Amino acid sequence: MPTTTLVASDPLTEWSNERKEIALQKVMANISPADGRPGAILASPSKKKPNYYYNWIRDAARTMRTLVALDSLPDYKKTLDGTLKPYVEFSKFNQSTPTPSNSLGEPKFLVSGEAFFGPWGRPQNDGPAERAIALVRWSKRLIKNSQKTYVATELYDGKEPSSSVIKADLDFVANHWQEPCFDLWEEVNGTHFYTRTQQRTALREGAALATVLKDPGAAKFYNEQAQAIEDDMERFWDPENNHIKTTLDYVGGLNYKYSNLDIAIILGSCYAYSKDFPFYSPNHDRVLASAFAIHNAFKDLYPINTITTGRDNSPMYPGIGRYQEDVYNPNGGKANPWFLCTAAISTLCYQAANLFSDQCSIVINDQNIGFLLLALELQDTPLTLDSGDKIEMTSACGRGILNGLRNLGDAYLRRVQYHGANDGSLSEQFDLNNGYMLSARDLTWSYISLIIAIDLREKLPLDDD
Ligand code: NOJ
Ligand code: NOJ
Repeated sequence: MPTTTLVASDPLTEWSNERKEIALQKVMANISPADGRPGAILASPSKKKPNYYYNWIRDAARTMRTLVALDSLPDYKKTLDGTLKPYVEFSKFNQSTPTPSNSLGEPKFLVSGEAFFGPWGRPQNDGPAERAIALVRWSKRLIKNSQKTYVATELYDGKEPSSSVIKADLDFVANHWQEPCFDLWEEVNGTHFYTRTQQRTALREGAALATVLKDPGAAKFYNEQAQAIEDDMERFWDPENNHIKTTLDYVGGLNYKYSNLDIAIILGSCYAYSKDFPFYSPNHDRVLASAFAIHNAFKDLYPINTITTGRDNSPMYPGIGRYQEDVYNPNGGKANPWFLCTAAISTLCYQAANLFSDQCSIVINDQNIGFLLLALELQDTPLTLDSGDKIEMTSACGRGILNGLRNLGDAYLRRVQYHGANDGSLSEQFDLNNGYMLSARDLTWSYISLIIAIDLREKLPLDDD
């Protein structure tokens, strides 16, 4: 398909260009705070209401992974290596310091690198998997740039037990993925779709690195465990409700998420997406079915969602929260929408469009039809779909789906634009009644989620005409 870059005159593109830059600066400002050990990454500079002045393994890893994925870091005094190497040292400190769970699944640390000993939902076993993904991807770059020795000594040494950061994490994931743990929202103890997606991508990509570094026994073991996770993940599908379930095998913790539907499903699919080892990718039927269910769950949940046109008078879609029953930081009994959850749907749309554009055709079925029709609603020319249709990507309908997904992603992105502050700053949440920003200010993850969405939007193939 002929492609071209996004036109600079589109107001959302202009906004995106500017905000991606600001978001990156804000992220860099949260790295290595002066009062911490180099390499620590603040979840947010907020010290009270809420106190997010910690390094969460999950947030930090995602930050590093995103920086690695960007083609270049703008000139913020630090290079990619200059940012990642202290992070590696900080991570090693985290891995070896005593913690309450005495496990690599310990979720958050003080900025000094030492353990946080207060009560918390622990362990959270997505953490080591996310850190492994970040560092495996960085290793691939380093090997290409003739830094294999650093990789083979500091990151993956092939020893057992290993004190090298990636190997320690992969061994932990491969040996402990069956165990229940707390979810990414730190609330429910059980088996989580989100956690599983990260664990299996870590093992698949980790196995590939182990092969390159001549550790075939480990590569085999990681691949076997990844296969076992993949087989087990079939259990998450809920054919009756037509979406993926977020948690199985409930052990304890919060117990009122009756829908078992959570934006974590979308975050899992998007963040675990692996080009070389795709699995439940953002264009997967079941992921699209879940996205449609989430859209429906949230569209009437918050008063601000009645505003349906954005700053440029174009369609604006619902603000999205974590799950419909959420009461964290309640506002009249209900939790608020979050920037990173709203940006996640945007990300899904752009990523799905990217992946579909590489296919010859799409077969429409009862799982993907809802979300694809939602995308087609945002098309100028009316188009419809039926289960069983085989849509060629080059047909008018195929092109309509790609454009529709882009428009849908944009409609969600406008929600972030609408409620974000004029100076480009983003907190964690926005008020369900009046849209003003709330809770942790300058949340690293909010910025990262925006950078990820915009980066994918920039990569979209567009019709020439
Ligand atoms: C703090 C966690 O970070 C948040 O995700 C959770 O909802 C609350 N604790 C309540 O358990
Ligand atoms: C609370 C969120 O629930 C959790 O996912 C996150 O890691 C921390 N805040 C820090 O941003």
